Amino acid sequence: MNVLLIGSGGREDALAHALVRSPGLTRLWAAPGNPGVARVATCVDLDVADHAAVVAFCRANDIGFVVVGPEVPLVAGIVDDLAAAGIPAFGPSKLAARLEGSKGFTKDICAKYAIPTAAYGRFTDLAAARAYLAKVGAPIVVKADGLAAGKGVTVAMTMAEAEAALADCFAGAFGTAGAEVVIEAFLEGEEASFFALCDGETAIAFASAQDHKRVGDGDTGPNTGGMGAYSPAPIMTPEMSERVMAEIIRPTVAAMQAEGCPFKGVFFAGLMIGSKGPQLIEYNTRFGDPETQVMMQRLDGDLLDLLLATTNGTLAEKSVTLSPDTALTVVVAAEGYPGAVEKGSEIRGIAQAEARPGVFVYHAGTKAAGDRILANGGRVLNVTARGGSVAEAQARAYAGVDALDWPEGFCRRDIGWRAVAREKAGA
Ligand code: AMP
Ligand code: GLY
Repeated sequence: MNVLLIGSGGREDALAHALVRSPGLTRLWAAPGNPGVARVATCVDLDVADHAAVVAFCRANDIGFVVVGPEVPLVAGIVDDLAAAGIPAFGPSKLAARLEGSKGFTKDICAKYAIPTAAYGRFTDLAAARAYLAKVGAPIVVKADGLAAGKGVTVAMTMAEAEAALADCFAGAFGTAGAEVVIEAFLEGEEASFFALCDGETAIAFASAQDHKRVGDGDTGPNTGGMGAYSPAPIMTPEMSERVMAEIIRPTVAAMQAEGCPFKGVFFAGLMIGSKGPQLIEYNTRFGDPETQVMMQRLDGDLLDLLLATTNGTLAEKSVTLSPDTALTVVVAAEGYPGAVEKGSEIRGIAQAEARPGVFVYHAGTKAAGDRILANGGRVLNVTARGGSVAEAQARAYAGVDALDWPEGFCRRDIGWRAVAREKAGA
């Protein structure tokens, strides 16, 4: 089968390298892909916002399956448009992608179907939002309802911060995504990411991961798309994973069926594990970036077969086989990220990094110029390694980072610190 992969990040490089291990794959195409993806796929310059052009490309190239990486095309309904043209695609329909596209929609689903999450209010009016804020007080969390590239959330420790976040949202800081605001209670505990595949009826656990959202060591500084991750998340024991399936994932599957928009694709549940057990922070309806890079390092099974099963309703017959190893990835970003960055500096040493034991370098924001690799974005490379422990995977990944020669790049030096401390304490 010929497959088209949509997206251009480190996530897509990891998906591409996993898909080419699948015996059912004939040829992999990627739109637009990146120089890492180009090692195993044919990259094409397609405007993925133009769904008719994607359909035409699929027809012309005998594409039997499309794998959608990012959320924007999902929320825009690309899976529906491909399905209407008879082309199956991995990912939710436009209506089911509301679980990521509207935080208010997800909160209402949780309330209606008793899925554990923070108490909340939804507002389209500043005065009403301020009145609610005055009633509940800080610490409090203010979220733009729609897609805001991970920037629409303010965890406000004071009323002044909360007021400022509200004012920003309603002043249009996030465009239409902030025309509605969700205000929710501040949850305490340890965060983890949990992934489960779903075919509309059956959900199966995929893997867990923990990421590092802040730009600076010790989890300081502004939020980013993610500066590193590791899998599994030590807090997601088999018992906790089963609780999440029973208390959060399966009730969501049933809820989406009852609402007439069954969910197919991957649930990416952002969880807070606290004294009351697991609570849902948010859903994303696609694989995480950089979580996918570490999960694909651990996947021993056939990714294409699993993703196909989510579209043809056969997930109940499948299982996910993961290596017990830990995988850890360090995001190497361009100086200035998550703010403005310079593009075009040359990156050397990728082959040297990959020559280190257990290391693989996924590309994110890179561009090829002849046989040179240039920086072309904020998050540029994901230096990833496997090991028998988090400490080993971490040491290997940083040995890979240290083999790179890219003065214009930087990374956090402490990815995995919590889990390494836990290993040292013998917990
Ligand atoms: P989100 O984009 O919804 O995942 O939020 C970004 C980050 O904000 C999360 O990963 C959490 O660290 C934090 N966050 C979001 N909602 C809450 C909450 N209700 N309580 C505490 N922290 C939160
Ligand atoms: N790493 C977080 C995300 O993919 O949204």
